[in-house]
Amino acid sequence: MSNTQIDYDTIAEIYDLYVTADYDIPFFLQETANVEGPVLELTAGTGRLSLPLVQAGVQVTCVDSSQGMLDVLSRKLRERGLSAEVRCADVCRLEFHTSFRLAILPFQSFMEIVGEERQRQALSAVFACLAPGGRFICTFHNPAVRRTQADGVLRIVGRFPTQDGTLVVSGFEQGGHPIVERLQFSFTLPCGVSCLASALLLLCVLCDEPACCSNHIVSGNFCPILGRNGGRLLSIGKTTF
Ligand SMILES: C[S@@+](CC[C@H](N)C(=O)[O-])C[C@H]1O[C@@H](n2cnc3c(N)ncnc32)[C@H](O)[C@@H]1O
Repeated sequence: MSNTQIDYDTIAEIYDLYVTADYDIPFFLQETANVEGPVLELTAGTGRLSLPLVQAGVQVTCVDSSQGMLDVLSRKLRERGLSAEVRCADVCRLEFHTSFRLAILPFQSFMEIVGEERQRQALSAVFACLAPGGRFICTFHNPAVRRTQADGVLRIVGRFPTQDGTLVVSGFEQGGHPIVERLQFSFTLPCGVSCLASALLLLCVLCDEPACCSNHIVSGNFCPILGRNGGRLLSIGKTTF
């Protein structure tokens, strides 16, 4: 199993196609509404949350360690005639001259910071950015619920229409004591409805026993096979919960 964390640069251009959640937006709109000065949004990504906040008039400082994700965010801000400070930085090493009344780390992204030492560094760095009496809102997975899904079973996350065909995103998670390893794949196959089956078949041809596919994927056989079949391996990751 790779120790590599998800490389968000490689999925920046497709992230918005398959991450369409909006359940947390009303909560963060409410929490940021009356904050004095800028709100520090950590792991802002492509701005799934930043944009609605900026649109609502919140002054947002968006931080993420993936320049690719931030490029998409900056483009979206520009296209909408909006503005926000956008900064490429690791949450574990934040340096700001401003202190913030509110820092937020939404969408369970704290779990992307792997290892206790790095997690402690992140918390210290965030604390150092806060004004006296400032608040930090950080959302987490419920481990008891989430670990039940870390069963090594390959699941299709969804099929999403693109200009070239259909994007199929699939992945599996395994482990959980305490680190859950997540592998995520996506394919763009110009074959419409059969795309889902193609993607599944592509994975199942790796072994006789479909339930064992994950073992073959983690053994590293997967990349070349994907290449031969015209698919693209987009990310391999590790996350903690
Ligand atoms: C699941 S995405 C969430 C993006 C966005 N918050 C959203 O709700 O769609 C996780 C984000 O965390 C960022 N990230 C991961 N580790 C980070 C770190 N150490 N410092 C800053 N950003 C990080 C990734 O680049 C990615 O954009």
